[in-house]
Amino acid sequence: MTSEKILEVKDLSVNFKGRGGYFGRRQEDVRALSSVSFSLAKGHTLAVIGESGSGKTTLMRSILGLMPAASGSVELFGRPVGEMRGEERLAARRRCGYVLQDPYSSLPPTLTVRDAVMEPWKVARGNGRETRAEAGERADAILSEMKLPEELWNARVRYSLSGGQRQRVAVARALILEPELLLCDEPTAMQDVSTRGEVLEVLRRRVERGMSMIIVTHDLLLARRGASSGIVLRKGEVVDEGETADLLEHPAHEYTKALVAALPKLR
Ligand SMILES: Nc1ncnc2c1ncn2[C@@H]1O[C@H](COP(=O)(O)OP(=O)(O)OP(=O)(O)O)[C@@H](O)[C@H]1O
Ligand SMILES: [Mg+2]
Repeated sequence: MTSEKILEVKDLSVNFKGRGGYFGRRQEDVRALSSVSFSLAKGHTLAVIGESGSGKTTLMRSILGLMPAASGSVELFGRPVGEMRGEERLAARRRCGYVLQDPYSSLPPTLTVRDAVMEPWKVARGNGRETRAEAGERADAILSEMKLPEELWNARVRYSLSGGQRQRVAVARALILEPELLLCDEPTAMQDVSTRGEVLEVLRRRVERGMSMIIVTHDLLLARRGASSGIVLRKGEVVDEGETADLLEHPAHEYTKALVAALPKLR
């Protein structure tokens, strides 16, 4: 495996602006990320672990250049995201898949499942190698890999899908452009044990073929199954990092210990 760097996050801090209050008083800015650093090589997987409000989604949005950095930098495919404009930004964006945390707001409700999966391919005007029919076949193949019942493929997203099914469609949609980097924000939060395994398996096959991936989760067990290394975020700071198996077995930071202690025990 090459060690080509896909992503390098250096000392990244991100703030949310405080709202303007009465009589000119302004609320304090909220610091969502504070000096976060890590890197990701091609074909590698990273889990971003942390409780609600720790800054996980903000980190994903910053990686894609959707949130400006207050200080520090994000280099995506070797270029600072903050400096990308126009065509370059679009091109980099197309090399990334993003599974948003909320599958209710991230899928176009009026489209059919098939069309929702194909939409990114159409918006990108294809990938220069496939006809629309070929891409359509690939979309069907991903949906069946994802174990989405075939009778739902032509159904409209709004009326016919459960939360877990929507999530699987969202993953399929993020994979249609065969991204080099996939960012998954809690991709299996609404899955049951068996469909969770299937989604992870689909992702693992892509990683074997060279895709790099970040999985956001508050679940240490999912982190270990889905990613080889991980960072633990707390209040926007990285408090622990390492191989996910080590994080589980030998947590260094008190906070990681507490996360491990909170895991259900099998007796
Ligand atoms: N639009 C916003 N305006 C102001 N503050 C925000 C906004 N979005 C997030 N924050 C704050 O930034 C911090 C990090 O939020 P973020 O959504 O990144 O957390 P998270 O780790 O993804 O949480 P969850 O697990 O609940 O999805 C939180 O303290 C939150 O209150
Ligand atoms: Mg979040």
